[in-house]
Amino acid sequence: MLIFAAQLHQPPHAGCPRGDPGQVVPCNFMKRVTIIGAGGHGREVADILRHQAQQSTDLAIVGFIDEDPSRRHQVINGLPVLGDWSWFEGVDRSEIAVVCAVGLPQTRKRLAEYAKTIGLSFISAISPLANLSPYAKTAEGVMMFPHSFAGPDSFVGDHGIVNVGATISHDTKIGSYGTLNPGVHLAGNVIIGEGCYLGVGSSIIHGISIGSWTTVGAGAVVVRDLPDHVTAVGVPAKVITTKE
Ligand SMILES: CC(C)(COP(=O)(O)OP(=O)(O)OC[C@H]1O[C@@H](n2cnc3c(N)ncnc32)[C@H](O)[C@@H]1OP(=O)(O)O)[C@@H](O)C(=O)NCCC(=O)NCCS
Repeated sequence: MLIFAAQLHQPPHAGCPRGDPGQVVPCNFMKRVTIIGAGGHGREVADILRHQAQQSTDLAIVGFIDEDPSRRHQVINGLPVLGDWSWFEGVDRSEIAVVCAVGLPQTRKRLAEYAKTIGLSFISAISPLANLSPYAKTAEGVMMFPHSFAGPDSFVGDHGIVNVGATISHDTKIGSYGTLNPGVHLAGNVIIGEGCYLGVGSSIIHGISIGSWTTVGAGAVVVRDLPDHVTAVGVPAKVITTKE
């Protein structure tokens, strides 16, 4: 499902657009959100959702789900760890939306696919401090952190992460599970394949394409296209390994 960024910034009680363009009907349901992953990334996403909830009475944060049994029943940053996936067996899943808040793209993909198989729906965590063009689009389960930017006609695919201060210029497209760590800068017309992991502070110049599941090292500057499944580092970025 595509969500136009402008819809995410509706004021509280603006209602839900349905049917004919411009038709708005009242939105009376409350979305209960659980965060999959109670690690560092999950705690940051919890802060984003808290900030969103301050601006929307339609959102309530229930707690974390985590596969690590040692976290079970802990209270982390004021939110309970509800348990593992089995917690969903005892609740009405139609009322619940989840966000898969784990930084590593491979793990995030596994979690999102599992969530889908048990019938959960996804919500995006879009910081009210993120700056999205009204012509930027985001797919489902996306995380946009404070001070991130997405320019006109840019796109962030399913379960993408745009971390603190990362910027996406006009017409740049991020594939599903794409991960922009803090301070990544993508110029215009860049294409990022599925599952790419862009290290903190890396930059990619205009018009470059990066293949799927490729890693770019922290601080790298990418000036040539990169293929699938490689790791590239340095200025200018050079491939150092091909992943198995
Ligand atoms: C690129 C990266 C993934 C490589 O990790 P790795 O596969 O474990 O590789 P290694 O640490 O064994 O390093 C391999 C070589 O690349 C060099 N290297 C690693 N990262 C580098 C980087 N960012 N820039 C330049 N060189 C780098 C190492 O010095 C080493 O060189 P050597 O063989 O001459 O000694 C990792 O260093 C990195 O930059 N990760 C980004 C992490 C990040 O941004 N996290 C954000 C969390 S919010």
